[in-house]
Amino acid sequence: MLAVQVPRERREFLAINRGAMSSSELPASGSSADEIWLTATWPFVREHLPKPPARVVELGCGEAGGHLAALLSTGFDAVGVDPEAPERPGYRRLAFEDYVPDAALDAVIASLSLHHVADLGTVLDHVYDVLAPGATVVVIEWISECLDEATARWCLHHQVRDSNDSGAWLAGLCREWTESRDSWDVFFQGWLDRHGLHNASTIRQALDARFITTHDSSGPFYFPDLLDADASAEQAAIDAGAIKAGCLRYAGLRAAR
Ligand SMILES: C[S@@+](CC[C@H](N)C(=O)[O-])C[C@H]1O[C@@H](n2cnc3c(N)ncnc32)[C@H](O)[C@@H]1O
Repeated sequence: MLAVQVPRERREFLAINRGAMSSSELPASGSSADEIWLTATWPFVREHLPKPPARVVELGCGEAGGHLAALLSTGFDAVGVDPEAPERPGYRRLAFEDYVPDAALDAVIASLSLHHVADLGTVLDHVYDVLAPGATVVVIEWISECLDEATARWCLHHQVRDSNDSGAWLAGLCREWTESRDSWDVFFQGWLDRHGLHNASTIRQALDARFITTHDSSGPFYFPDLLDADASAEQAAIDAGAIKAGCLRYAGLRAAR
């Protein structure tokens, strides 16, 4: 495990922010990174969806199932589509671009999946095609181009979750950086190139070409991987200008053709 001692500045930062971050808001020790992420992002997703029982698909729900359990328990007619989806009712194990719903959808959610898709244009064209006119697209994405050295070091000054934990990834990235002996900029550009991920500005341009924006904001992203900081602590560091926001939150509407 990549455990980093909490430095003095960090202890002071925690003390200063204690009012905004009660102990009950700190990550529960038994929660996985996936669980913390899904719990934190659900209110945004829910706020931008039409009323239940709208027909909703989660594009790239992941092997943990994404927001599908929350969608179903809230009364949505929901399906999770992902080649890695759980082998359970409610999920389809295939690429979204190969999924054909039996009626037009009221909403598509894509949380951290668009940066992974092979052909962004093809996938977003398919999102457009399967949505009813006036339907909603909700996107949560990693602003990878904003993970600069200051932001990476801020993460490293925390206790980073073990990379074997479900959904954890930051420890692996930090370990690769240490082993590379490169500057952050050289290392991270190479890492992005090797992984072939779409950055947030590319995703945003592709969304703008197809949908009408109804919401665009940014916020904390790395906290699920940190054992000693939560979303409010990360937001406070963003507000203080110490780090850059890593999460894009977007909602849009499908216009009529
Ligand atoms: C980081 S996981 C996101 C999981 C979950 N949505 C979340 O917010 O935690 C990205 C997922 O996108 C899926 N994915 C990649 N390309 C896809 C495609 N063309 N169609 C559907 N899912 C895709 C991957 O299989 C992976 O499970």
